[in-house]
Amino acid sequence: MNATEKLIASAEAHTAHTYHPLPVVVATADGAWLTDVEGRRYLDLLAGYSALNFGHRNRRLVDAAKAQLERVTLTSRAFHHDRFAAFCSELAELCGMELVLPMNTGAEAVETAVKTARKWGYRVKGVPAEMAKIVVAGNNFHGRTTTLISFSTDAEARADYGPYTPGFEIVPFGDLTAMRAAVTENTVAVLLEPIQGEAGVLVPAAGYLPAVRELTRERNVLFVADEIQSGLGRTGRTFACEHENVVPDVYVLGKALGGGVVPVSAVVSSAEVLGVFRPGEHGSTFGGNPLACAVALEVIAMLRTGEYQARAAELGARLHRELGKLTATGSATAVRGRGLWAGVDIAPAQGTGREISEKLMHRGVLVKDTHGPTIRIAPPLVISEKDLDWGLAQLAAVLR
Ligand SMILES: Cc1ncc(COP(=O)(O)O)c(C=O)c1O
Repeated sequence: MNATEKLIASAEAHTAHTYHPLPVVVATADGAWLTDVEGRRYLDLLAGYSALNFGHRNRRLVDAAKAQLERVTLTSRAFHHDRFAAFCSELAELCGMELVLPMNTGAEAVETAVKTARKWGYRVKGVPAEMAKIVVAGNNFHGRTTTLISFSTDAEARADYGPYTPGFEIVPFGDLTAMRAAVTENTVAVLLEPIQGEAGVLVPAAGYLPAVRELTRERNVLFVADEIQSGLGRTGRTFACEHENVVPDVYVLGKALGGGVVPVSAVVSSAEVLGVFRPGEHGSTFGGNPLACAVALEVIAMLRTGEYQARAAELGARLHRELGKLTATGSATAVRGRGLWAGVDIAPAQGTGREISEKLMHRGVLVKDTHGPTIRIAPPLVISEKDLDWGLAQLAAVLR
């Protein structure tokens, strides 16, 4: 066995098998590139499912983390610390909102948004106790907690985890008629990914998000946008909702907010909505810790320049132009996406998404399949044009 095989066998012997990773063992990383334990280099076209929008070990983020490591890393929320106020005010400003509730992982932030919406429903909207309903979309992915998988439509994600949390109504993504019918006087929120990532980068038809915005406003229902994967530059704008001039009531953020360095997530909203919480009603030991705040502050400063969004838009146009050729030649049956983000449905004759991912790995390019025929492409936004072109040339070669 070589080093790679030994490490994979050892990992498999000592871990619960909740993942089926590609057989590559990463040792170091820089920008858009990874190096494995045997010294082979790979172009990363997945970027930690958008957690690495700013690339691996981005210098500004590593420096911010190092400087904070030398000062203070954790206080818990029992005490104040000197990075917290800036993190909250600057994140709120980036979002055009008023208040921030910091958490760590994406799933925790969505859970927090669910709790926020329910509490707002009871305390502000006046929904009778225990009656709050949240409308969600089919094929959603919001995380892995018991409550979040309770409203998943993915059988694998749900099986054997019941009893499930009640209070959710699932309607097909993109179906306004179904959403209108599902919203009742007890509905407190509509929770949506503006672009569904795990489902295969599904972009709803133009006009869908504005119509959801109008409906939720009319019916006094919160529009909660889970921008954990779609937000923070990935689509060519700070938020995917911006492409349709939609401002939700609540943003749920994660992944890239921690710069690929530490887990940082947050719920960001108005004072009316997040103002419902009182001490003791929600919390997290690590949420909003000094190290997380220091890294996230740097992420926010980088996003403020607009540079990364512009890059995602520009390189995204290039990506989609190239991927369009795959559908033209019949290698792919569909290509979807926005900015530097794409879901490619591989034509069945070419093999499964997994087979294509493995072939690409052997050519030094890393992507990951999702749901059978689909591969997802989400390079770090700092990737060079030349590297992107090279990666796409490898895909074209694999599909030939
Ligand atoms: C839209 C969306 N929401 C929530 C999550 C969950 O985030 P985490 O894995 O950090 O819990 C993900 C992760 O892929 C996601 O894409």
